[in-house]
Amino acid sequence: MFITFEGIEGSGKGTMLERAVAWIEQRGKGVLCTREPGGSELGVRLRAILLDSRNSDITSRAELFLYLADRAQHVEQVIRPALASGKVVVSDRYADSTIVYQGFGRGLDPQELFKLNDVAVGGLWPELTLVLDLDVETGLERARSRNQQLGIEEKEGRFEAESLAFHTKVREGYRSWAKLHPGRVRIVDASGTPDEVFARVCVMLEEAGL
Ligand code: TYD
Repeated sequence: MFITFEGIEGSGKGTMLERAVAWIEQRGKGVLCTREPGGSELGVRLRAILLDSRNSDITSRAELFLYLADRAQHVEQVIRPALASGKVVVSDRYADSTIVYQGFGRGLDPQELFKLNDVAVGGLWPELTLVLDLDVETGLERARSRNQQLGIEEKEGRFEAESLAFHTKVREGYRSWAKLHPGRVRIVDASGTPDEVFARVCVMLEEAGL
């Protein structure tokens, strides 16, 4: 089974993903936990380019194809082999990030991006995509203070440096996209304590048969 986590910066996606992985492992299943960008060796190099705030001149289309290259490599080298060996694969971001950030966020056509992603991943879409939904101000405040604490504002801060308007489009984009894919893409209310949010995540994992 293939599950992905999505959401704006600072939505608590990373914490929920870690807890979900532990929860699935406790049920005796093998899990591969991975992420985008940067889930393969090539991807680590692409990630460094994509997230460096000094690369602010990357065009929307160049950015798009770098994400697609990262994903194509990730699917073939990492995700498909793990699924074939019977593991549950849990990824921090996947194709829906491109559709929402480069599409709803940057203004490229989401349906066109859906098709390009479909080519990049050879038709492999997750069975379940959980979108951690939180108001943009709270999320960005959390993400910026985390980057500052880790000292990675410059190396990894290209998206955190985007405007509130951009992140609002991203949040709304996730909500619109989820409405178009009600079976697979589920919105999770990410407000409240981590325990409260995780309880909501568990309900959806159980509904997916885990
Ligand atoms: P990351 O440091 O992994 O952020 P987060 O902790 O929020 O997941 O950075 C990933 C950034 O790349 C994030 O801001 C979203 C962006 N992104 C895209 O714009 N398109 C994509 O296809 C992917 C995978 C990520």
